[in-house]
Amino acid sequence: MEVLLESGGECVALVRINRPEARNALNSAVREQLARTFVELASNDDIRCVVVTGMEKVFAAGADIKAMADAQPIDMILRASERNWGPIKDFPKPLIAAVNGFALGGGCELAMHADMIIAGASAKFAQPEIRVGIIPGAGGTQRLLRAVGKFKAMKILLTGEMVSAQEAEAMGLVTEVVPDDEVLDRALALARSIALLPPLAVRKIKELVLQGGDLPLEAALVMERHAFQLMFATADQKEGMQAFIEKRSPNFTGL
Ligand code: HXC
Repeated sequence: MEVLLESGGECVALVRINRPEARNALNSAVREQLARTFVELASNDDIRCVVVTGMEKVFAAGADIKAMADAQPIDMILRASERNWGPIKDFPKPLIAAVNGFALGGGCELAMHADMIIAGASAKFAQPEIRVGIIPGAGGTQRLLRAVGKFKAMKILLTGEMVSAQEAEAMGLVTEVVPDDEVLDRALALARSIALLPPLAVRKIKELVLQGGDLPLEAALVMERHAFQLMFATADQKEGMQAFIEKRSPNFTGL
């Protein structure tokens, strides 16, 4: 298997891409396995937060160039790779990318599908598609623009140059930079801390940030207000506020 599903501790799953011989290039097997894994994790009530990672020297080197080199447009249509990105794009629980080494092309796009990116100090991000005669095809032009703004996005997309973890953090592409050997532990610790929080509220926050960001502000604010009001139907709201008043730790059940 090129995609391994491991336990990340209490209520946390760890998805590991494991195709070392091709620097974790995302061929159809990897993409299909990733898609299946995220479909499974979405409906697994025991899992509240997920970490996706690669290997020590590479998160993922992008789409598999060898599998695309001779393709025609119709082949690309029939491959319908958007079907495999769908379960990651629509994953309803928090997803944290733990990035060591290279996150290039589709690998950078995979990281940008996550809600947070924890990067090792030596991590490198790039959208090098331009250098092999194509453009990003899994949201790179759009998610990068929204993450870092036009002027940084243009440079990354038009030059294909690598961006260090520190530069990526400064421009808002990563959440935190930590020493290389602490990346996975930090991502898992963050995931476990989120897994302790009320899952319905967690899910709504993710939905609002992702959906609301592309709506007119007034519409997004209405959506937020309705979601806020809905939280008062949850047992976790009653528990959270009661625990505060009683000066004890809350016990969230997900209801
Ligand atoms: C296919 C790849 C690959 C890739 C590496 N390999 N990246 N195979 N597709 N994206 C293979 C190499 O061909 C080589 O195979 C083996 O992995 C080791 O790679 P090396 O280059 O020798 O390793 P290294 O010197 O450590 O360099 C690592 C690297 C470099 C910096 C990650 O491999 C690299 O630049 N890769 C390409 C990155 C890229 O351009 N990505 C964008 C792809 S387009 P052999 O058989 O020689 O051992 C894209 C479009 C997205 O992502 C569209 C939507 C998904």
